[in-house]
Amino acid sequence: MRLDESTNRNSNYVPQRQVEFFSSGEQSREKRKPGVEVGGGLSVGGLSLRRLLTMAAVSPADSTDPVDVALRNSLRFLFRHGAPETGVSREDFDPAKDRRYSLARVHGFQRTKDSPAEKTVIIRGDLESVMNVAKPSHQDRILLRKNAQMAGSRGYRCLAVASATVGDNGELGAFRMEGFVNVRPVGTGLQDEDLTPTSDDWVRLQLWSAGLRFLHWLNVVLIVLLSVTGYYIMDPFFGDTFFRGIETGFLMGWMRFIHFSCGFIWIAVGLARAFIAFFSKDRYMRWETFWPIHSKEDMKNLGRTLGFYTFLRKEGPLYVAHNPLQQLTYTSIYIVGALQMLIGLSLYALYHMSNPVWAFIALPCSWFGIPIMRLLHVMIMFLFWWFVIAHIYLAFRADSLERHGGVSAMISGGVWMRRTSRPVDAPEL
Ligand code: HEM
Repeated sequence: MRLDESTNRNSNYVPQRQVEFFSSGEQSREKRKPGVEVGGGLSVGGLSLRRLLTMAAVSPADSTDPVDVALRNSLRFLFRHGAPETGVSREDFDPAKDRRYSLARVHGFQRTKDSPAEKTVIIRGDLESVMNVAKPSHQDRILLRKNAQMAGSRGYRCLAVASATVGDNGELGAFRMEGFVNVRPVGTGLQDEDLTPTSDDWVRLQLWSAGLRFLHWLNVVLIVLLSVTGYYIMDPFFGDTFFRGIETGFLMGWMRFIHFSCGFIWIAVGLARAFIAFFSKDRYMRWETFWPIHSKEDMKNLGRTLGFYTFLRKEGPLYVAHNPLQQLTYTSIYIVGALQMLIGLSLYALYHMSNPVWAFIALPCSWFGIPIMRLLHVMIMFLFWWFVIAHIYLAFRADSLERHGGVSAMISGGVWMRRTSRPVDAPEL
């Protein structure tokens, strides 16, 4: 048997790593016959996907194994002008009996259109077992496992492929990891045809009101503006500075003006949030949620969540709104934010000491001293930066692990929950 390009007239592709679909396209979704479907793959050894599939399809010519049949069909679909012959004789094939991969000997395999046809031994089977033989690089191992995991979530099993060339003296060279091809059963009734969750499997909950979302994004803008202008007040990091003896214009004045304006808007945002906490009928936004620990079970759930966040547990308890750890963090940040507002107000009051109300607000500056108040104000700014970094990371992490759309929920207001799930804070879902 010769696996060469003679039958393939349309092969000016560049071998590279990629994923594409090998669907035969013969059957519509509705009337699929029971069998096996081939759905893309990953090449790490430099082979084009068509050649990877050719390798994977090498099997005894008379094989009726559904996987072999499906691979050959896909090959026919990919090579419209004539697929390469992939059948080998029974002597050239050693099926997977005691090991989790089979071996096949082919007498002429071309890695690319122009490369020589070589005697090659091909192994195909379970990914881990084939990787144990072919010993791919650490990087490729991770790439293969990750992609296999992703294919697995769509119901595919990976048929891994590795190859070794046989030298002129008959000596077998080292195995090279080539990649894998995805296969999955269809129409068997044993497994769902398409395991990708559909919208029927999920429930959408409208969680965050438009008002709360508006306040959230206003917070983002204000904290950025307050940080930039505040940092500038502390250390004028751009523009001309007085210290270089250059006329500075009114830049610092503008910075302070923006800082104070944003500061007062931020205080208004804080008051609005407090109003929502006490007057909203939505239980996820009320002040009661600020302290999430009411029972021993809540305490345990806090521990479990902590374990999940520190990679000690595979799963944490499921919450529709905030888990106890998130809630405690947000409550703390509210407290620290309120403190920042009070310190800012107290510093601002220093400009209006003739007014008894401002003089009263400025009292902390005389108790602790202005330098301490300014230091605290700056330290809280840095604390905020840490919070923002962790908050963004954890929000994206939770969204990608739990697939609930938590990040977009701060825009759209809604999260997604699996219909079968039983969140701690919404048992009636
Ligand atoms: C996220 C919130 C805030 C951040 C990150 C922030 C940051 C800063 C920073 C870094 C400074 C410079 C400190 C120094 O070296 O003296 C500063 C000064 C100041 N901030 Fe804020 N601030 C915030 C909120 C507020 C609020 C709500 C007010 C109240 C109106 C306020 C009023 C002031 C005042 C009066 C000063 C002193 C300005 C001066 O010395 O000329 N800040 N802020």
